[in-house]
Parts: sequence; C-alpha cells; structure tokens
Amino acid sequence: MYAAAGPQLADWTTIVRLSLHVLAACVWVGGQLVLAGLLPTVRGFGDTAPRKIAQAFARLSWPAFALLIVTGFWNYAAIKPQHASPSWSAAFGVKMALVVAAGVGTLLHTRASAPKAKGIWAGIASLASLGALVLGVAIAG
Ligand code: HEM
Repeated sequence: MYAAAGPQLADWTTIVRLSLHVLAACVWVGGQLVLAGLLPTVRGFGDTAPRKIAQAFARLSWPAFALLIVTGFWNYAAIKPQHASPSWSAAFGVKMALVVAAGVGTLLHTRASAPKAKGIWAGIASLASLGALVLGVAIAG
C-alpha cells in the first residue's frame, strides 16, 4: 500500500513544462562547462578554431536561453507565487538577478576583444548561470 501523503507522479503539463526548462538549462549551463573543458583541445586545431566553435555554440545556447525565459515565465505562472514564503520570494528574486547577469555577462564576453576581459565576463556568466540553476532547484522544492 502507498501512503497518500507520499511522492506523487507529476501531471503531464508539469512534466512538459519542467522537462523543457531543465533541458534548456542543460544546454545553456552544461554547454558552457563542456565548452570550457574542450577549449585547450580546440586551440590545438588552429587560431581561428576557438572562435568558430564559440560561434557554433552560440547558435545553440541563445535559443536555449530564450527557452529558459519562456518556460521560466510558464513555471512562475503555474505555481501560485502569491502564496510563496518570504524566503522563496527572496530566492526567486536573486535567481532573476543571476539570470540577467548570465545573459549580460555572456553578451559582454562575446563583444570583448581583450583576452582578460573575455575571461572575466565568461567567468561571471558561468557562475551566474550555475547560481541560477542551483536556486532553480531550491525554489522547485
Ligand atoms: C539561466 C537561466 C535559468 C536556469 C539555469 C534555470 C534553472 C532552473 C532549474 C534547474 C530549475 C529546477 C527544476 C526542477 O527541479 O524541476 C528551475 C525551476 C524554476 N525556474 Fe528556472 N532557470 C532559469 C531561468 C528562469 C527564469 C527566467 C524564470 C522566470 C521567469 C525561471 C523560473 C523558475 C521557476 C518558477 C521554477 C520552479 C518551477 C516549479 O517549482 O515547478 N527560471 N529553474
């Protein structure tokens, strides 16, 4: 026998909503980490190789970021945020600030030409993206 208060299966709209949000987070956050890990190898393919790989990644990562925003609003609308605890609202607010920092940081990373500035913006964008992921898990409960 199962206990009624125990774990329950999600309904299908929740499965679609969260699967899309998590899949997009995998591409946006995971892709950045994998790309950083592959960079030393990619450099061995020539001077222009890192830029070409970064441009190819951007064609995947920005649509994933857009999907995160769209499904993020869908999440927010689906979970009755008016009944949220103060700590949930605070975590959500910090997560939104990190999402902005991740997007702006990535944009400035792309635009920067000096290697040092490129590295700093990449670091900020990756940390902000990771922070948004962890807070996402925290607010999903
Ligand atoms: C860099 C961007 C983002 C990342 C990496 C991210 C990541 C995540 C992750 C990993 C979860 C946990 C899912 C689960 O455990 O089932 C989550 C949940 C959530 N996210 Fe995001 N997210 C991002 C952007 C956004 C945006 C822009 C919004 C709102 C406009 C948003 C709203 C939410 C909400 C409300 C939940 C909780 C959903 C629930 O409890 O059903 N997210 N996020």
